[in-house]
Amino acid sequence: MNGAPAAARAPHGMVASAEPLATGIGVDVLRRGGNAVDAAVAVAFALAVTFPEAGNLGGGGFLLLRRRDGRATAIDYRETAPARATRTLYLDPGGQVIRGEGGPLVGYRASGVPGTVAGMALAWRRYGSGRFSWAQLIDPARRLALAGFPLSRARAASLRDRRDLLGRYPETRRIFLNGNGAGFREGDTLRQPDLARTLRRLQRHGPREFYEGETARALADDMARNGGLITAADLRDYRPKERPPLRGSYRGHTVLSMPPPSSGGFALLEMLNVLEGFDLRAAGPASAERYHLLAEAMRRAFADRAEYGADPDFVPVPTARLTGKRYAAGLRARIDRARATPSARRRPPAAEATQTTHFTVIDRDGDAVANTYTLNGAYGSGVVARGTGVLLNNEMDDFTAKPGVPNLFGLIQGERNAIAPKKRPLSSMTPTFVLRKDGSLWFTVGSPGGPTIINTVLQVVTNIIDHGMDLRQAIAAPRVHHQWLPDEIRTEPGARGLPDGVRRALAARGHKIAPATRPMGDAQGILIEPETGVRVGASDPRGSGLAAGY
Ligand code: DON
Repeated sequence: MNGAPAAARAPHGMVASAEPLATGIGVDVLRRGGNAVDAAVAVAFALAVTFPEAGNLGGGGFLLLRRRDGRATAIDYRETAPARATRTLYLDPGGQVIRGEGGPLVGYRASGVPGTVAGMALAWRRYGSGRFSWAQLIDPARRLALAGFPLSRARAASLRDRRDLLGRYPETRRIFLNGNGAGFREGDTLRQPDLARTLRRLQRHGPREFYEGETARALADDMARNGGLITAADLRDYRPKERPPLRGSYRGHTVLSMPPPSSGGFALLEMLNVLEGFDLRAAGPASAERYHLLAEAMRRAFADRAEYGADPDFVPVPTARLTGKRYAAGLRARIDRARATPSARRRPPAAEATQTTHFTVIDRDGDAVANTYTLNGAYGSGVVARGTGVLLNNEMDDFTAKPGVPNLFGLIQGERNAIAPKKRPLSSMTPTFVLRKDGSLWFTVGSPGGPTIINTVLQVVTNIIDHGMDLRQAIAAPRVHHQWLPDEIRTEPGARGLPDGVRRALAARGHKIAPATRPMGDAQGILIEPETGVRVGASDPRGSGLAAGY
């Protein structure tokens, strides 16, 4: 965390990501005539090298694309459950969710079938400019993996924070704890020669190599040797999917966001619809009134997330109803402006440290990409498949291991999100576009943070539309989080915490305020200035990313 405002202005193209080397690689692709998708593919591969806690080849995510002509699509490259996965996969004989090795969070059995390489390939093939080959877009990442790069303070700290997980498996320890397990310091060079060789194979043989070639064999063999679930057939059968983005509106502005299997889009639109009926501008951005209304909207949307969120290819998700204005009016009518509505039900434990990463690109034509992808927890399951340098996800924890039992994020999830072969786990990732009233692109935003992702995006959107903040202010402003259960408002530590007066006023309305633990999210956004067309990029001061353009 540097606390410094990080905004950039450029006439043609802009990239905002959580890691400066990756941002630079994206800008370079734009400068050399690549479009937003070309740059996004290069950034995604770069982050897999330079931001290993969340950038990945062994995870999955969502890419939202909007062309200047208004056509938009969502590429779903979320992981899928292996074919051998069952509903009760993570329950011990006593019916309790397995914690640690063998459970949904740590080790060989925690991973879904990775989607990132297939997702990037689909984006590149269908929507790339054609001016960059697949191999060209991977090359900057491969070079960084091979030559290594100096670890920034933030990256070195991240590796240190997770040394327990990284030390569990010899292959992971060798790469990420500096061979002998001693660990890295700021300024040390992180080299990943195995990953460089994997990237080289992808360059030579194309994206299917990951799913059917030597990399696939290495992955499946390592799984088989260590009791993992993913097989060669799982890898061969993995397919990303294109889906129509969810579309709603807030005070006359069209909002495009991610459909299921993310809950991000429908929960965001549901909250915006509820809030549209209140005069937030009059309440003011830092008022107890506003935080009360935010929390009440969040509580309701997260209850629906728990109830309805799931993979739409397995279970119908009533997104049209949940994102309708009429449904919001019904919810709004039951919000008491003076009292919190109790969430009832049990109290799950607080969430642990986690990571995901969002980046966004706008090119000189005005085409835009918003991409959030993840290993779920920082460094995923902790497993690097032997010989590949690829860290594997622990996304299986996003399924309902057991109804009523909270997951890593303290989320209670429903039956509809139960584990089934080839099913995608419910997500909170929320890559989002907001349009001007004339239908042109206004800004893009997204963030990591598990369930707080949805509320981070919500608050950035209302900060801009209701409170007239510029993008940098909207991203820097303090955030709150409510997720239905636990029934409490989470706040941020230090200067981003709520003033005592606001806390007292919220408590008087019946809200419980949880003790602040850590900053919320690492949002990345780009806004197009209407008068000039200048691209304004902002990288969250909570993180150590960079927005840059040309
Ligand atoms: O898909 C999801 O919602 C989670 N796997 C995201 C995890 C996450 O954001 C961790 N973040 N900081």
